[in-house]
Formats: sequence, C-alpha cells, structure tokens
Amino acid sequence: MNYDLPLRLKRLRQTSASRTMLQETRLHPQQFIAPLFISELIGSKQAIKSMPGQFQLSLADLPAEIEELSSLGIPAVLLFGIPRHKDAHGSSALQDDGIVQQAIRQIRAINKDMLIISDLCFCEYTDHGHCGVLKNDVIDNDKTLHLLGEQAVSHAKAGADWIAPSSMTDGMVAAIRQALDAAVFNNTAILSYAVKYSSAFYGPFREAAQGAPQFGDRKTYQMNPANSHEAVREAALDLDEGADLIMVKPAMNYLDIIYKLKQHFPEVPLCAYQVSGEYSMLKYAAQAGLMDEQHTMIESLLAIKRAGADLIISYFAKDFARWHANQR
Ligand code: PBG
Repeated sequence: MNYDLPLRLKRLRQTSASRTMLQETRLHPQQFIAPLFISELIGSKQAIKSMPGQFQLSLADLPAEIEELSSLGIPAVLLFGIPRHKDAHGSSALQDDGIVQQAIRQIRAINKDMLIISDLCFCEYTDHGHCGVLKNDVIDNDKTLHLLGEQAVSHAKAGADWIAPSSMTDGMVAAIRQALDAAVFNNTAILSYAVKYSSAFYGPFREAAQGAPQFGDRKTYQMNPANSHEAVREAALDLDEGADLIMVKPAMNYLDIIYKLKQHFPEVPLCAYQVSGEYSMLKYAAQAGLMDEQHTMIESLLAIKRAGADLIISYFAKDFARWHANQR
C-alpha cells in the first residue's frame, strides 16, 4: 500500500553520491588553524595528559611539526608560549628573545608561507596567572593595555602575521593597533578574541599552557556564559577599534553566538575556537568506547562551520586534515 505523498525527502539521501553532492557545509584544511604550545622548560616534546594526542614542543621540535602541518595542508598556527621565568608583570612576554618570539622567528625561517598567529596574553607569563598586571588583586586594565601594545610589537618584530589578543582587556584592540602602527607594522593584522566566555571548558588547557590563575577566576574579564546580546557589543567595539577578524570562544556551547555574529556582521571574517575541553571530551569518550572518534570530530567541526565560522582553531586540525586526505 503506497501513500500518495507530495514529496519524499529520503529520495535524495539514497546514495553516497547524492548525499555528498547536496551537502550544504564543507570542511577544508585550508580553513584550519593549529594551536601549538612551545615550552622553554623542556628539551624535547612532552605529551599533555589532559589532551590526548597533543604535545608541548621545544624549539627543536618545530621543524618537524611545521613540516608535518604544511604537508597536511594546514596553513596557519596559533602559538602559546610557556616561559622559564614568571613574575608579577609577565616581563618575559615582552622580551625579543622570549620563547614565543624565538618560535616565530624559527617558524618563519623553516617555512616562509606558514601564517603565524601569536596568542597575546599575560596569563602564561605572570606568577599569579591572571591575564594582566594586578592592582590590589584585580587587573589594572589600562596599565595592561600599554603592556599588550609592547608585547604585540615584539611579536610583530619577530614576524607574526596576525596578533590574537585573548585577555578580554577593555580597549585592547585599539591599544595594540596604535602600538603596531607607531612601530610601522601597518600590515600586521589583529584577530581579536572579541567574544571569550568564562568557560570551564578551558580546563585541560591549564596543564597544556600552565597559566591557571593562582587565586580567583576570570569572571571579572571574561564573559558570562548566560549572555548573548553582550557578544554583539563586544564584537562591535573590537571592530570599531580596528579588529581585522573576530573570534568566538569556546565553540560548541556557543553555536548560537557564532550564528548571531555571522548574521550581524556577515562581512567580517569570523573565527571559532574549539577549545581544549571540547577536544578532550571527545578524545576520552572515544577512548572509553562510547562514541566513534572520527565521526564525532567531523560532526563537531561541521556544526561550527554550519553555524557560521569562516575559520576554525582546533586541536583536531591534523586529525581532520588526515581524514580529509583520505576522502575522495
Ligand atoms: C589565555 C587562554 C586560555 C585559552 C586560550 N588562551 C585560557 C583561559 O583564558 O583561561 C583556552 C584555550 C583552550 O582551552 O583550548 N588567555
């Protein structure tokens, strides 16, 4: 007995060819950015237990890592530094021979085409672990601005293409733009962590970058996960201040925010950061035999892209690119 249905949407799902042809969202390694942790404290690469498959690298590990990324077709890296020395002001973040500055120079020497993005923050460099200098245990916003400008110039001098400030300091984009322009780095772009939530999903990153706050939390500077309108204000402000690209972070719990910002600012390149907790959750679930790793990875990345992200920062960048290379 056949029903007389006007349309059967299952028809177009019948073959792999039609499913692929009609796929609305596609992922490509060219839109991925791989985060790298470079440590001054180690002589060779060390596994990060909280993030299966991720490593802290020494400078000596960079040639092999960059070669691998490049052969997989990943065009960009986001650098985090783990310095030997920490103090109240995060002074080692400003040194021209600091760990990130050295890494930038080295990557540039290894591969002239790799896009180098430097995370710009103080939390890995301060002994208290907060994202700026403190006055009476709270961040001194405007004093931090000045230091962010200095740090940005030292990254640009080393050869960073894009500076990515992640500290949610009010006015950070304007201060960094001014400092870069004053030093005649007019072509160094700013990828602002414009919409960064105070998220428990950064948990595994703490071991990776060793920058956890030693007291308190980041709620006075990062956004409340309950807020959505505020994301538009944050993004609009950073764009007014001269951000070239904006970011939403984390990604998976904030797909509505990614969607909203893309609708609001369709002309602005939008980046989403699939953070450590999103990555490790899937890795550990797969290890426990609960879900298929490749399928959950692809589904999570597709969702971020479908929501509206143009670029994705993800610890899965290499796994994804390997998967992609085997598709056809
Ligand atoms: C530092 C910084 C953090 C992350 C990126 N930059 C941690 C934090 O703000 O607490 C998190 C990245 C991740 O979890 O993958 N400002």
